[in-house]
Amino acid sequence: MELIVARNREDLVKARGGGEVALVPTMGALHEGHQALIRQARARADHVVVSIFVNPLQFSPNDDFSRYPRTFEADLDVCRAEGVDVVFHPAVEDMYAPDRQVGVTAGRMGSVVEGAARPGHFDGVLTVVLKLFNVVQPGLAVFGQKDAQQLALIRRMVADLDLPIEILDVPTVREPDGLALSSRNRFLSDDDRRVALALSRALRAGAAELTPSRIRAAAREVLDAAGPELDVDYLVLVDPATFAEVDGTYDGMAVLAVAARVGTTRLIDNVSVTLSRG
Ligand code: PAF
Repeated sequence: MELIVARNREDLVKARGGGEVALVPTMGALHEGHQALIRQARARADHVVVSIFVNPLQFSPNDDFSRYPRTFEADLDVCRAEGVDVVFHPAVEDMYAPDRQVGVTAGRMGSVVEGAARPGHFDGVLTVVLKLFNVVQPGLAVFGQKDAQQLALIRRMVADLDLPIEILDVPTVREPDGLALSSRNRFLSDDDRRVALALSRALRAGAAELTPSRIRAAAREVLDAAGPELDVDYLVLVDPATFAEVDGTYDGMAVLAVAARVGTTRLIDNVSVTLSRG
């Protein structure tokens, strides 16, 4: 089947097939992490839609909206190779009316951790994801665990707004040396890249410990050892469903998450850690 590129909502509605539809929302600059999402969608659904839309609503004026990589032709090759049925690539004007008023608010959970570092970011993410859900009407949507707080908020939105959509999450894909794949990695110089490895090393060191205080301390030690080139935004150990910090009384799966700037590039990463009081 030929890949269809839908450049506006009307074309998408015409191109959308029957049977179970899976949506993989992306901002393009596709890499193997996205390919892993697409493969899960392909394995589960009759019809796979990949959206490629750099969403201005989730960037603050200090963020990198104009700098965000745009590699549309290469992205189409990836989609063809992965057997995607439709790429939805709307223009900003097609997604947002100039006088738009209403959006989704991410609530308290959207203003902690990554949301504290990027005010309004998750409102923008949830607004575009809800719009994509409404336009594409998938039965299944696939997201990466790398954006753990985004994933938790999308699950929360689906529950709180009664959206009839299954959310499937897929593990982070890493380079052999541990660096989590990200569209922003292309901005790292060789030196930046060496410094950036401290993120995954810190998470591994933390995950080898058993109590919240030791997990945080072990991870922090690795981050501190990376020196001033690594500008750490946060290191947190949180409940994956709420993103509230956990303490020694917590039982179950927690997420150890980190964000840091290396040169001009901001990176995030996380791992799951199982905590037991006993
Ligand atoms: O994870 C992303 O690439 C974006 O935040 C998403 C979910 C496509 C919304 O713009």
